[in-house]
Amino acid sequence: MELRSHRWFLRNGPAGFKSRSRMKNQGTPQQMFDGRPVIGICNTWSELTPCNAHLRILAEQVKRGVLEAGGFPLEFPVMSLGETLMRPTTMMYRNLMSMDVEESIRANPMDGVVLLTGCDKTTPAAIMGACSVDLPTIVVTGGPMLNGKFQGRDIGAGTDKWRFTDDWRAGRMTNDEYIEAETCMSRSDGHCTTMGTASSMSSVVEALGLMLPGGAAIPAVDSRRRRMSHFTGNRIVEMVKEDLRLSQILTRDAFENAIMVNAAIGGSTNVILHILAIAGRIGVEMDLKDFDTLGSHLPLLVNLKPAGEYLMEEFYYAGGLPAVMQNMKDVLHMDAITVMGQSHAENTEGAESFNDDVIGSMDKPFQENAGIVVLYGNLCPDGAVIKPSAAERHLMQHRGQAVVFTSLEDFHARVDDDSLDLNENSVLIMQNVGPKGFPGMPEVGNMSIPKQLLDQGVTDMVRLSDARMSGTAYGAAVLHIAPEAAVGGNFALVQDGDWIELDVENRRLHLEVSDEELAQRREAWQAPDNHSQRGYTRIFLNHVMQADTGVDFDILLGGSGDEVAYKTDGQADVKHTK
Ligand code: FES
Repeated sequence: MELRSHRWFLRNGPAGFKSRSRMKNQGTPQQMFDGRPVIGICNTWSELTPCNAHLRILAEQVKRGVLEAGGFPLEFPVMSLGETLMRPTTMMYRNLMSMDVEESIRANPMDGVVLLTGCDKTTPAAIMGACSVDLPTIVVTGGPMLNGKFQGRDIGAGTDKWRFTDDWRAGRMTNDEYIEAETCMSRSDGHCTTMGTASSMSSVVEALGLMLPGGAAIPAVDSRRRRMSHFTGNRIVEMVKEDLRLSQILTRDAFENAIMVNAAIGGSTNVILHILAIAGRIGVEMDLKDFDTLGSHLPLLVNLKPAGEYLMEEFYYAGGLPAVMQNMKDVLHMDAITVMGQSHAENTEGAESFNDDVIGSMDKPFQENAGIVVLYGNLCPDGAVIKPSAAERHLMQHRGQAVVFTSLEDFHARVDDDSLDLNENSVLIMQNVGPKGFPGMPEVGNMSIPKQLLDQGVTDMVRLSDARMSGTAYGAAVLHIAPEAAVGGNFALVQDGDWIELDVENRRLHLEVSDEELAQRREAWQAPDNHSQRGYTRIFLNHVMQADTGVDFDILLGGSGDEVAYKTDGQADVKHTK
């Protein structure tokens, strides 16, 4: 079988000499160039991405598996995206990282790829890039941290930070306690412990069929994650021999499975953007509405924060995603093929929940109708999303008056101002925080409750923005409003005191302002001036698409395959030296 790496390593003459000789400076013996599959291990390790800081350990395990199966493993670094440190937001760099992954794979002699990811955006970025090349590929995520432990109870990364912050702001928690809590929250390698974006993406990757079964939830420091990495190394070599590529696994059925699983696990709203973007790369038609049609009616089958009580550690011990998928087998496409070369039905056969308090069934779920809802109306003609499972139910049918913040800076400057005219029925609006308005669409959609209302005991309010929300966050936040304010969507025209109606049951978000009045306001509207930007920000602003299509760049849709487009040394002298 002719492999792509043969065009580098099995050539006679100076091209082959150059390719092999410099690899030998790492001590590589000649027999590694005998035509065996070359497996790239794409590593997002970085000390600036603490959630991925242990990935070099997993890379070593993958290498062992590849060598054992007769492959030649080669680890390479790509850009990493650390959620907690990068400014303004990792989402701004997701597409950039995907370009790094795509070009690094295509430009180099590899036949299959293992993607090592973990923190929120590293997973979709790596998959998006890999899809545009379409080699045999398996994902290994880094796994969640162990449960945080604080003052005798378990605390979840992200979710409990929001609660602690509310307590700290309201004076219910001292500064010393607040700092102690941050120490106790992160006590091992791994990513966020709640069903936030990292855990949601990891579960979605398993549901897409791109990960070994059961891999999503294994704690980062559990030896079974290393074992899974070893088996991944074994399996990717086989996948190359079978020529089982991403495009054969990522079918419409696979994406439908991912959407349904994300609904049943109470997964992050960020996943919507990532699934749409991945589908766009591999060429599968998916629509924002699919998330509502396929997922909104599904019940919540896991009792994990932010929607429930437990954390990823308990989820793994209770059976993890295979148990959830078995419980959903009547609605999922269980015949969809996976990286194992076999179906979900085969992969999950016999899987069961070992703790019904953590993993429920379709008959005994933790909540009905828990999936993401897609709203339409004159405020969001191209759609907006809300996650009812993370919000107070009474707010799902609501009418209130707008309190408008025109930017993130405006919000921070005035939110705790006691003279702000609002009450618990007010609808908080934050404009210009969408993909173009605040490049990267930051996770600020769960605006903090104004202090004057917090002091009155208000715990949730309706909040509207064109921003995103952290997967670890909660609240009645309507997100991803499209078109966003910065491109002149009606959302840009909302003013203080306007009445707004949110009707989740009827999928409606309506601004009670006449079309004539909106037309007048539009005459006076001015687009924000972003023209002074240079470099990557300029590229981002020129090419980023709206939230309803996944915030990818228009120039990155689809793929270019694994062929190198420009050949500097010809192909005529390809000869096997074996
Ligand atoms: Fe990295 Fe949450 S901050 S996964």
